[in-house]
Amino acid sequence: MKVAVPKERREHERRVAATPYTAKKFSDLGAHVVVEHDAGLQSNFVDQLYRDAGAEIADSEVETLSGADVVLKVQSPITGNEGDADELDMIQEGAVLVGLLAPFDQRSKIDEYAEHGIRAFAMELIPRITRAQSMDALSSQSNLAGYRAVLDAAAEFHRALPMMMTAAGTVAPARVFVLGAGVAGLQAIATARRLGAIVSATDVRLIAKEQVESLGASFVMVEDKESASAETEGGYAKEMSEDYQHKQAELVRAHIAHQDIVVATALIPGHPAPTLIDDDMVLSMSSGSVIVDLAVEAGGNCTLSRPGEIVQVNGVKVIAFRNVPSRVAEDASALYARNLFNFLMPLIDAETHCLKIDWNDEIVAGTALTRDGAVVHPLLANRG
Ligand code: NAI
Repeated sequence: MKVAVPKERREHERRVAATPYTAKKFSDLGAHVVVEHDAGLQSNFVDQLYRDAGAEIADSEVETLSGADVVLKVQSPITGNEGDADELDMIQEGAVLVGLLAPFDQRSKIDEYAEHGIRAFAMELIPRITRAQSMDALSSQSNLAGYRAVLDAAAEFHRALPMMMTAAGTVAPARVFVLGAGVAGLQAIATARRLGAIVSATDVRLIAKEQVESLGASFVMVEDKESASAETEGGYAKEMSEDYQHKQAELVRAHIAHQDIVVATALIPGHPAPTLIDDDMVLSMSSGSVIVDLAVEAGGNCTLSRPGEIVQVNGVKVIAFRNVPSRVAEDASALYARNLFNFLMPLIDAETHCLKIDWNDEIVAGTALTRDGAVVHPLLANRG
């Protein structure tokens, strides 16, 4: 079984889908791992490390992908007019493609996978069940994004975060407000606390209160009848009613004016990110304050966010970097590569060293997008 690891070619992407560690793990299962030359370079994994792990280094992407049974990707392959070369054309029919394939944003691509006879699996759709925790790429990447968001804010914030009592006077601690206390938000809280800031957070899911407080931060939220049922069975937030959104805006408006740093992480799967910070709220903050909008790729939590940019308004900086996990590329790759290995390992037969996929398995069925030339995922199969 040939496992191929091409170099990621999309803008802002520094991660790689296999590390020397996971290449060795696949080799130990009997796979022949082929990594494209310099695929891991931006994550600090040089070719020799892969060679030492038993992988072959291929000079070109065509050579890497040619005849591969499994293709490991971070982002979806480049197709059509997205780039110079069509990466999908290099993948053989019947191959398994695993990656963060953005199934709901890139619907037409899913049809292309089916047309090419590729068996595609989206890592975003790993069900949040105990057995799949080690495969949960959304969590592993969000965790690092939450950490990095605080460091990005600190780098643009021209004051210290901890309180400092010096002979020359006292430096007041920074006040950090985290919007959305999921995986990224909780890590942002923990990171800001470690840096000595005074931290508060909000969410629509009441269950987040205890988690926030256990990290030493205070919790503010609009608590009403609706918030009691704000969480889906999968543990995600629901889109809230207009009435709730209005009440929440007033709460954020009152709180944000006294904050130095805001880290916005609020997302609603399958919907645009909720708008939580409007222009007036930004203008109410003191000059020198910093907002980091981690939700920018889903539309953003702040009305002034511009994807990939730092916008400065009245002395307040609004940071909206794209692909934040990629800004911690080495660890993000290491965790993501392990997520991929943990997902694929149960699909590899120990005796034949080949794929043996149980299509009825909950994790397989939850992530499979295409099979036998058709779109099979229940959320995508009916185009409507
Ligand atoms: P996410 O990335 O979809 O959303 C981020 C956060 O934004 C969530 O906490 C959400 O409640 C919040 N949010 C949405 N709308 C908001 C609004 N209007 N105002 C304020 N906050 C808003 O979610 P994430 O971080 O991927 O996970 C959500 C939950 O799932 C977390 O509680 C996490 O602990 C849990 N989880 C469970 C796992 C499991 O295996 N059982 C694995 C990973 C996470």
